[in-house]
Amino acid sequence: MMAQEHFVEYKGRSVLITGGLGFIGSNLARALVEIGGVDVTILDSLVPGQGGNLHNIEGIRDRVKLQIADMGSNTVINHLVGGVDYIFNLAGSVSHLDSMNNPLRDLELNCAAQLTLLEACRSFNPHVKIIFTSTRQIYGTPVYLPLDERHRVEPPDINGIHKLAAEQYHLLYRRVYGIRSVCLRLTNTYGPRQLLLHDRQSFIAWFIRQAMDGGVIELFGEGKQRRDLNYVDDVIEALLGAGASEAAEGEVFNLGGTEPIMLSALAEELISLTGHGSVRCLPFPPERQSIEIGNAYSSAEKIQSLTGWRPRTSLREGLIRTIEFYQKHRDHYWNVDADTLSRSQTTVS
Ligand SMILES: NC(=O)c1ccc[n+]([C@@H]2O[C@H](COP(=O)([O-])OP(=O)(O)OC[C@H]3O[C@@H](n4cnc5c(N)ncnc54)[C@H](O)[C@@H]3O)[C@@H](O)[C@H]2O)c1
Repeated sequence: MMAQEHFVEYKGRSVLITGGLGFIGSNLARALVEIGGVDVTILDSLVPGQGGNLHNIEGIRDRVKLQIADMGSNTVINHLVGGVDYIFNLAGSVSHLDSMNNPLRDLELNCAAQLTLLEACRSFNPHVKIIFTSTRQIYGTPVYLPLDERHRVEPPDINGIHKLAAEQYHLLYRRVYGIRSVCLRLTNTYGPRQLLLHDRQSFIAWFIRQAMDGGVIELFGEGKQRRDLNYVDDVIEALLGAGASEAAEGEVFNLGGTEPIMLSALAEELISLTGHGSVRCLPFPPERQSIEIGNAYSSAEKIQSLTGWRPRTSLREGLIRTIEFYQKHRDHYWNVDADTLSRSQTTVS
């Protein structure tokens, strides 16, 4: 686990995590509970097809407050933001393909709901610190590598456009209203508690599932694209570090990952670690080809020089931990509905 002793700033503080039943949000909630003395509230609406899963908070369920509700509802969010010290704003839609198939839904989740949160903060908690999770995708096809924060932005899909707009909302509300926001541009993140029910959210999670099932890992365009990946615990450390740093306010940071790896090599590594699975190369399906960005990886130099953060978990170690997690908890992640759609039985606590 990570070095929580570095994050004593959070002790005695009140923290809201939007999207806190999802992959990254639930790992963050667990880290905050582990610090001890942190008042943690999770807001999540368990959006169908996304990573929200009640099993993600198994073991800490009685140590967090849970609100199953939509961040886009101002009656809910107005009530939640008052008195909170930190908001880790992770609620949003991750899928690039879904955003192209249903752009208006992506607009609701990645823009309208973000503005609803920021408006609530402006009215009821204008000095709150917000840590927003953006994405490396906003750069589009790289002009040079590794991507740094000065690289031009040209989102290749609707999701990227909306995440960029949401970043800008957060930065604008800082300049105009003094809300203390910071934006982190995450790269492909993997680890325990990630959705692996379908292949539209994360290719890494999907590869892991295929390998564990002894299935076929499909590589589009021969899998020659190189990407950087981050293990989720490293991303949590970056989020906590950015939250604790005053100098980070008003800034955007890339969370560049470990050494870039070709997707074909990632597939081979998973096959070797699980002892199962095979690879098949296919031409890109047209809907993926049109939003493909080729080699893409980013530099973590800016955040490293400010907070000292860098990814510490090697890809191999991260994959081993992830596979072990899913071997133990398979029932809660392999089949839809077991944990995601039991929300009707969940009440606010
Ligand atoms: N996972 C990655 O590789 C990655 C990469 C770049 C950026 N990000 C960003 O990190 C954040 C978290 O990603 P994740 O991988 O944990 O996704 P996830 O799908 O596992 O979690 C997102 C959670 O947000 C919730 N949610 C969405 N809209 C909501 C709303 N309006 N109200 C309440 N809850 C809502 C969903 O129900 C889900 O539980 C997202 O904003 C995503 O854009 C993730």
